Amino acid sequence: MIKPEAVAAGHSGKIIDMIIAAGFKIKAMKLTKLSKERAGEFYEVHKERPFYGELVAYMSGGPIVAMALEKDNAVADFRKFIGATDPAEAAEGTIRKRFAKSKGENAVHGSDSDENAAIEIAFHFADSEIVG
Ligand code: CMP
Repeated sequence: MIKPEAVAAGHSGKIIDMIIAAGFKIKAMKLTKLSKERAGEFYEVHKERPFYGELVAYMSGGPIVAMALEKDNAVADFRKFIGATDPAEAAEGTIRKRFAKSKGENAVHGSDSDENAAIEIAFHFADSEIVG
């Protein structure tokens, strides 16, 4: 996902360009806005964390761009490509180094395992919205 503050700042196109240039193939994509309930569901694993309420409010506060991406070793490569959660720790050349504002407003989300990627893709897309 490209997160609300990055979409609002007009960075979606640049981020999509970088994703494609890094070798990821876009299999599905949509601009959408998550309700509080849907954002809460997406981040349910973080329910007990102190920042959960803030995270849900932020992720439901404006449009996001959701994407399903394909590449060999996609999950690990995408996490490397976007950089550390905290932009202060993100490596040079990563998406978060360039676009993230803080640990919370960190421009993009990437799945942390193949299993969660499948769950998160199904959260955003019907099978008919994913190109073969
Ligand atoms: P993401 O990769 O989407 O997964 C969980 C999100 O929680 C993370 O990116 C951040 O946006 C957010 N997050 C993680 N740690 C903190 C924190 N300490 N304070 C606020 N938000 C956080």
